[in-house]
Amino acid sequence: MATTREAGSAALLRLCRADEIGEAQSRGFDPDDEGQDSLFVVRWQGQLHGWRNACPHIDGAPMAWRRDAYLNAEGTRIVCHAHGAEFVPDTGLCVQGPCRGERLSRLELVVIDGELFVTS
Ligand code: FES
Repeated sequence: MATTREAGSAALLRLCRADEIGEAQSRGFDPDDEGQDSLFVVRWQGQLHGWRNACPHIDGAPMAWRRDAYLNAEGTRIVCHAHGAEFVPDTGLCVQGPCRGERLSRLELVVIDGELFVTS
């Protein structure tokens, strides 16, 4: 069950400690207890980026080939396992594959006292 917090008019859902996601690592989250990860976070060049776990090629298609595996082996691109689309980790732009030119849907992240939250 996600921990919620208020920040202005936005509700914040706690995901984890921010330092649990290292450089070129990714992690999926199921903050609404839907039974599958609805979003994922990657750390790229020191910054955390949050994305909906939904490929723009086929809307709603989950992207990881196994739990938390959203990046290629080099940690340089987000990869959709279904048909191999590759996305730039900090912009979400697809640069290779069937949805080239389309983007992932960004989610706003907030770090408060070392804890990582997504806005809802
Ligand atoms: S569903 Fe992601 S590349 Fe086809």
